[in-house]
Amino acid sequence: MQALEELQTRAQEELTAAETLEATEAWFRDYLGRNGALTNFLRGLSDLPREQRPEAGRAGNQLKNLLETALHTRQEAIRQQEMEQTLAAEGVDVTMPGRRPTFGKIHPSNQTLREIAQIFGQMGFQVYDSPEVETDENNFGLLNIPPGHPARDMWDTFYTTTPGVILRTHTSPGQIHAMREYCPEPIRVILPGKCYRHEDVSARYDMMFHQVEGLVVGRNVTFSDLKGTLVNFANQMFGEGRSLRFRKSYFPFTEPSVEVDAGCVLCEAKGCRICKNTGWLEILGAGMVHPIVLQNGGYDPAVYSGFAFGMGPERIAMLKYGIDDIRYFFTNDVRFLERVG
Ligand code: DAH
Repeated sequence: MQALEELQTRAQEELTAAETLEATEAWFRDYLGRNGALTNFLRGLSDLPREQRPEAGRAGNQLKNLLETALHTRQEAIRQQEMEQTLAAEGVDVTMPGRRPTFGKIHPSNQTLREIAQIFGQMGFQVYDSPEVETDENNFGLLNIPPGHPARDMWDTFYTTTPGVILRTHTSPGQIHAMREYCPEPIRVILPGKCYRHEDVSARYDMMFHQVEGLVVGRNVTFSDLKGTLVNFANQMFGEGRSLRFRKSYFPFTEPSVEVDAGCVLCEAKGCRICKNTGWLEILGAGMVHPIVLQNGGYDPAVYSGFAFGMGPERIAMLKYGIDDIRYFFTNDVRFLERVG
């Protein structure tokens, strides 16, 4: 009995001293495990004189229950303490600023397209959608560029395996679609979209790019209307008071034809790398719709006239933001995409 009391005292002291769950497990092995002190005591009961056995058995089993309960209580206390320590160490700092999600951004080409559409929208232009996969006839023939015409060399074309079907080299074939749909009503539309050319890719040219075509058809539409429209556009796009220069040019689908330059936005027309020291940047081609093209669209050129223009939004954005390589637009470098516009 004395031995049992000593065992109890020792066990309780050691359990109180156990600081970790591992220590309590070691304690369990020492007292209650297969070779534990109390287990051995109970196993040794049969060696005791017969009359002592019931008493010793009862006391041993009582102690076993007591120690098991004490073990669970101790383990629970250690778990609780560990949890509190973890919480204190890893606690949430509610004053810390949150993580900002990164929001997407409209692609610089589309941003410019939207800006262009908005400016022309204020002048009463609607957006007209036309296909990217075109017939040779719409892309060239009906625009007064018959097969074999040397002007076809102005566009390096992607042909498909279907004869007569190509990727449009410019948005101008949309003029034919719009005219044939609206004729004989007057037209005031822009036609934005992708174009494809088999160019040698360089800082100035990529194989895919966007254009915005403009088309106005009606009675008494004059070159002055074209000029006024483009001057208003340039003022809104690049800032008030921007000078425009109209240079005579040639396009098969317009007569007369012009190329239009804006005073360099970057150097205020003083001359810089981007404008190659000329002070001018070419922004678009334009002209009065050729009578043959009007006719191909269904309009009588004796009654109707019109003007058209075509510009590249990437080029406009390059001029506006001083970007020196068109390939940035289509290589998906987020540093570029996030900063432009
Ligand atoms: N389609 C021409 C090109 O891609 C650009 C152009 C020039 C369009 C004059 C026009 C225009 O509508 O009148 O080179």
